[in-house]
Amino acid sequence: MKITIIGAGAVGATTADNIARANFAEEVVLLDIKEGVAEGKAQDMMQTAALLGFDTKIKGVTNDYLQTAGSSVAVITSGIPRKPGMTREELIGTNANIVKSVVENLVKHSPEIIILVVSNPMDTMTYLALKSSGLPKNRIIGMGGALDSARFKFQLATKLNASPSDLNAIVIGGHGDTTMIPLIQKATWNSIPVTQFLSEEEQADIVKKTMVGGATLTALIGTSAWYAPGAATAAMVKSIVLNENKLFTASVYLEGEMGEKDINIGVPVIINKNGWDRIVPLILSEEEQVSFKASSEAVRNMNTVLKDNNII
Ligand code: NAI
Ligand code: 2OP
Repeated sequence: MKITIIGAGAVGATTADNIARANFAEEVVLLDIKEGVAEGKAQDMMQTAALLGFDTKIKGVTNDYLQTAGSSVAVITSGIPRKPGMTREELIGTNANIVKSVVENLVKHSPEIIILVVSNPMDTMTYLALKSSGLPKNRIIGMGGALDSARFKFQLATKLNASPSDLNAIVIGGHGDTTMIPLIQKATWNSIPVTQFLSEEEQADIVKKTMVGGATLTALIGTSAWYAPGAATAAMVKSIVLNENKLFTASVYLEGEMGEKDINIGVPVIINKNGWDRIVPLILSEEEQVSFKASSEAVRNMNTVLKDNNII
């Protein structure tokens, strides 16, 4: 199976690296517009194959979509990342034009493709990818909730002194500092509610730290993070390629589910060979419902920029 990754920057290259190490794909095509960058990173990664023991072939190309032909899955990471103090929303103008042209090229060469969108502002870019691709809704997925949920588990694990993989916790809503909703009331430590172990202040602190998880790293590093984003994206690609039926929160197109329509936003879904196969119904408390509505409003407002600027 061929997987294409658009953008050989920090997140794109890390995604390719994680996919190769997991050794489930035949071929990864890494494409960038910067001459030589994808070729160089692909060759560097291929030189780890003998050391790490994988057989995936990684090929780097400069803007050559013919090489992506026949891909089953594509990941879009092209665009500019956040700089300190910048919101994901401020990236919209630049990244919208990039994402639109990338989607057109991908679909032209691989009409059966499933597209995972990473570029920010991710929910809006995923909505744009759906509207501009003409693909069925199940084949367009936004990656944000998988990362935010992993960050939520990291915060919980740190406070509880627990193993992160023993925690069950999800983040729904938009992939933004103020729009994401870490569902702490529903989080468990191997089936035991985490709220049993945490004071209200501690719970609020974990939620807050999760929500600003990306911004915290951007301030520390000087650009946005890539290790966890790359690992989260690769895990979703694996669930598609191996038809794993894993549950992730992901940005998908709602048509009345959770009380919202004509919007891409993070909800729990099953990811398999169909893309996002189905939404997993979630019963929200009144407070969670209010937060989800507010998050949807914020994401919807951002989507209007696409129409106002004739991008869709
Ligand atoms: P980066 O700057 O390291 O890499 C972006 C790459 O895209 C560059 O190599 C650039 O040359 C390439 N590019 C630009 N225009 C292109 C085009 N038209 N075709 C092909 N390649 C093109 O940025 P990084 O850190 O990899 O982040 C990528 C995007 O992912 C950003 O928008 C960032 O905000 C977003 N992001 C989203 C996350 C999420 O959870 N959804 C998490 C982390 C980053
Ligand atoms: C992140 O959450 C900026 O979306 C990027 O790290």
